[in-house]
Order: sequence, then structure tokens, then C-alpha cells
Amino acid sequence: MSYQSDLLRGKVALVTGGGTGICRGLALALASHGCDVAITSRREEHLLPTCQEIERVGVRAFAVPGDVRDPAMVDRTVEETVKTLGHLDILVNGAAGNFLCLAENLSPNGFGTVVDIDLKGTFHMCRSAFPYLKRTNGVILNISATLHYVGTVAQLHVSAAKAGIDALTRSLAVEWGEHGIRVNGIAPGPIAGTEGVRRLLVGPAKEKAEKMTPLGRLGEVDDVSKAALYLCSELASYVTGVTLVVDGGLWLASSRMADVWAQGLQSLQEEKSSS
Ligand code: COA
Repeated sequence: MSYQSDLLRGKVALVTGGGTGICRGLALALASHGCDVAITSRREEHLLPTCQEIERVGVRAFAVPGDVRDPAMVDRTVEETVKTLGHLDILVNGAAGNFLCLAENLSPNGFGTVVDIDLKGTFHMCRSAFPYLKRTNGVILNISATLHYVGTVAQLHVSAAKAGIDALTRSLAVEWGEHGIRVNGIAPGPIAGTEGVRRLLVGPAKEKAEKMTPLGRLGEVDDVSKAALYLCSELASYVTGVTLVVDGGLWLASSRMADVWAQGLQSLQEEKSSS
């Protein structure tokens, strides 16, 4: 099942973190549905190959090396995108940084670096894009997470940053609705083949996540892209301020209580089968 290939024809998107992983897939999905796409990333080496892939789809692509932590650089990225591609309809905030670290070992700079990239970077991009999105009744899509829905160990820094992003999504939806701008988010679970899974689901964690996910598998980049196409298109014309969870149900099953209940259920079943 797929959307019509001209779903986003004539639109222009800017995707941060668009060189790799979920956001590379999302940039390609937008392109496959007719959208011209600019991508930005700190890591220049990832930009050119993804840009070439986007062009092969038959739309215009534009790569801007940059760091969302630098407000002046963010202004230039947005301005160059509009100058090159004509206007801006869709902003996807996907640039993120993460590592596993217990709170007691986390330095102030470690905490601050992740908040700077994820949360402040998202704010900088929204702020710079606002005048252009106002002209097009544009859309913002913030990539969040489910880590902060529960107390995720070794992820305090990202949990704090992503909780802040969800707050931005809701506040901007309210403030910018009158300008015709919709602001939504996606909270993906672990997505197979991404740097996030390689970095964060170490040891037995990957297998455990697969087992615990109600839908029985890790997510695919395509699962996130399909949700993003919905939220970025007119299909979601009356949807704003929402962060859509795309995780196969994992976070609902991942709290400690869920584990305890599962163990309780298992012993009840064992009792039943032995009686
Ligand atoms: N554990 C604990 N602290 C860590 C850490 C780790 N694994 N990795 C980085 N830090 C701390 C550093 O020690 C430093 O703090 P300090 O000055 O007190 O020592 C601080 O974080 C900044 O690190 P630095 O490497 O200078 O920042 P950077 O801007 O070069 O890198 C990161 C940003 C930290 C997010 C880095 O992990 C990164 O670039 N990741 C690549 C992209 C990514 O994470 N993608 C997300 C996939 S989910």
C-alpha cells in the first residue's frame, strides 16, 4: 500500500540530520512523492551520497553542511535553501546526538551537548524557518522519542531533550496555528539498521526489544517514512500538536511494571499448568 506519487509535488522540504538513518529515509520518501529536498548535517561525508540518491528520484536536491547548535549557521541554512529551491513548505527536525551514560557519570557538558543538539537545535530551526513557513502554510515535523515516557536508564540527557521537543511541538502548534502552520512530531521506537540501534541497543538489549515489542519486530525506516508522509501532507490537514508514536507498541510494554506484570502472569500460568 502506498500514497500517490505526486502527494507532495511542488513542495520544498528541509530535513536536518538528513544524511543518514531515519532522516535519510524520510528525505528519500519525501522526494519519491514529488518534493524537492534540502538536507543538512554536521557530517559532510554523508550529505553528497544522499543528495545524489534524492536527485536520482527526479526532484531537486540541495545539501548544506551545518550544525543546528549554531543559530547563525541555521539562519544561513534556511536562507540558502529558500534561495536555491524557491520556498519552504516542510521542515523536518531530525538532527540528534546520543550516547549511553548513567546520570551519575554524565558531565555538565555531556548533558548540555545533547540538549544543545536535540532541543535547542530544533528551536533554532523552527525560529529561522518561521517567516518562510508562514508564507506557504507550512508544516514542521519534530523527530522525538519515547524514552521520556518512562524512566529510561542511561538516557537522562536525551529524555530531557526529547521531552522538551514534545513541549515545543505543542506550544508552536498553538502559537503558529493562526499562521496556517501545523506542527507535529513522530516518536520512533528502535529502527533496524540505524546508528541509534547500533549505539544504544547493545548486548542483549536488541533481542529483548524485539521480543517485547507487541508487533513482534523492530521498526523499519519505511514505517517512520509512512507516518511522516501522512503528517507532512494534506492528509493530516486538521492535525497539529500531536506526537505520533511509531514503535510497534514497545513503550507501552517496556515499563518496569510491565516486566513485573509479565513475570506475575508467567507464574500464574505456571501455577495453573501444574495444578
Ligand atoms: N559517555 C559520556 N559522556 C560522553 C560520551 C559518552 N559516551 N560521549 C560524549 N560525551 C560527553 C563528552 O565527554 C563531552 O563532555 P566533557 O567535555 O565534559 O568531557 C560532551 O559529551 C561533548 O562531547 P563531544 O564529543 O565534544 O561533542 P561532539 O559535539 O563532538 O559530539 C555527541 C556530539 C556527543 C552527541 C556525539 O556522540 C556524536 O557526535 N554522535 C554522533 C551522532 C549521534 O549521536 N547520532 C545519534 C544516534 S541515536
